[in-house]
Amino acid sequence: MYPTSRPRRLRRNPAVRRLVSETSVEPRHLVLPMFVREGATEPSPISSMPGVVQHSRDSLKKAAVEAVSAGVGGLMLFGVPEEHDAVGSGAVDPDGILNVALRDLRAEVGDSTVLMADLCLDEFTDHGHCGVLDEDGNVDNDRTLQIYGEMGVVQAQSGAHVVAPSGMMDGQVGVIRDSLDATGYDDVSIMAYSAKYASAFFGPFREAVDSQLKGDRKTYQQDPANGREALREADLDLAEGADVVMVKPALSYLDVLRDIAGVADVPVAAYQVSGEYAMVEAAVANGWLDRKRTVLETLTSIRRAGADIVLTYWATEAAQWLRDSG
Ligand code: PBG
Repeated sequence: MYPTSRPRRLRRNPAVRRLVSETSVEPRHLVLPMFVREGATEPSPISSMPGVVQHSRDSLKKAAVEAVSAGVGGLMLFGVPEEHDAVGSGAVDPDGILNVALRDLRAEVGDSTVLMADLCLDEFTDHGHCGVLDEDGNVDNDRTLQIYGEMGVVQAQSGAHVVAPSGMMDGQVGVIRDSLDATGYDDVSIMAYSAKYASAFFGPFREAVDSQLKGDRKTYQQDPANGREALREADLDLAEGADVVMVKPALSYLDVLRDIAGVADVPVAAYQVSGEYAMVEAAVANGWLDRKRTVLETLTSIRRAGADIVLTYWATEAAQWLRDSG
């Protein structure tokens, strides 16, 4: 007549809840994505991502130091160049903004955190695609690979510990691994954006990097309807030598994250993207959600689904909360 099983017993007070809590989020699990803008003398706000800025070289260094002292596990850097061209020359130029900023950060924080670089052409091309185009205007996979290989080496030379190919070109991990190994950078890791979806949730990021894109990325990023394809992408990246595989976006793809975490024999990352950030911040601004609770719940959910590493624009702040709550 009364229940003999009473799951509520293990929820009765904070001490027992703490004892039986399965999933934790620690500062070291979090990676902070950062934007640095060429020629900027001060940080400029990104309106669709309240609280996130395009940094100047100076403000980038300060924000990096703050993130590192909060205990974050790593920094992921994106460059916003002044000039764009058809082949994204700024990406392979050692004096291009992303590479300059990598050198700045490496000088500033050394090996005290893991320095990561986005390896993709979309920020640097005048058409905004992640690769170069052929005569018909289609993204040319294999010509793009050559540039990615070069880009990886320049990023490694500039001080990246990890390069993160996000362009979804077939074979990108293998080509980048080969070119890193051939130039003596066998200790530089590859974090592969393995399952990256053609997602509406990247919307605010386009403002963040002044993206030139018209159209979409559906010929290279995955269809949100497809789950099995994500496993295939992750398998290919592992076979090509990926050190970490990533799922992106995070919250709408927790099933994919779970599936990949179940089979990958390397650490798994998830990227809580710009639109996920904007969605919560907008609701918070309206007084509809409790900011801290919501942010921590999303991070916990992503960890619970199987992410070892979570890229999030809240990394510094969340790390401070987590550290203060001990
Ligand atoms: C491509 C890249 C994108 C993001 C990270 N790397 C944009 C895209 O693929 O359209 C999105 C990140 C975010 O939305 O927070 N260089």
